[in-house]
Amino acid sequence: MAQRTLIIIKPDGVQRGLVGEILGRFEQRGLKLVGLKLMSVTRSLAETHYAVHRDKPFFADLIEFITAAPVVCAVIEGPEAIAIVRNLVGATRFTEAEPGSIRGDYALDLTMNLIHASDAPDTAEKEVELFFRPEELIDYARDGDRWVTG
Ligand code: PPS
Repeated sequence: MAQRTLIIIKPDGVQRGLVGEILGRFEQRGLKLVGLKLMSVTRSLAETHYAVHRDKPFFADLIEFITAAPVVCAVIEGPEAIAIVRNLVGATRFTEAEPGSIRGDYALDLTMNLIHASDAPDTAEKEVELFFRPEELIDYARDGDRWVTG
């Protein structure tokens, strides 16, 4: 089933010049970008996005980090995109992230772990709406897709 999911390349990913490398991994897999922007995350947006972690000891550091420098947000579409993207991203904890995953190849820190990806259909829907206006998402076909998804 085709799904849409949100990714945020966090400030460390942008500062380290890994935007192209990270987006390329999703493109290589055959997934499609339907929304893409460079932006600064306000404190209010950060607190809404990470509201579920409000009571965690790391909440303040997380908000500080995500608002510290620009991020790149994307909406990615494809069959089972939520699970596929989470797999490509790798485990949250860098000690558990498999080599070959984005975090397994580039992350050595729990906060600076390069990328956020929605973890379930309901959060994906909410997060896409939080970061993108409907008119910023583009429906389009790619000719090559029939050789990827049929
Ligand atoms: S938890 O503790 O199981 O709820 O954490 P998790 O859902 O795996 O991830 C929470 C997000 O917070 C970021 N973060 C940290 N998590 C745990 N401990 C510390 N110290 C910490 N610092 C930051 C973590 O990278 C997750 O961010 P996202 O953007 O959701 O991947």
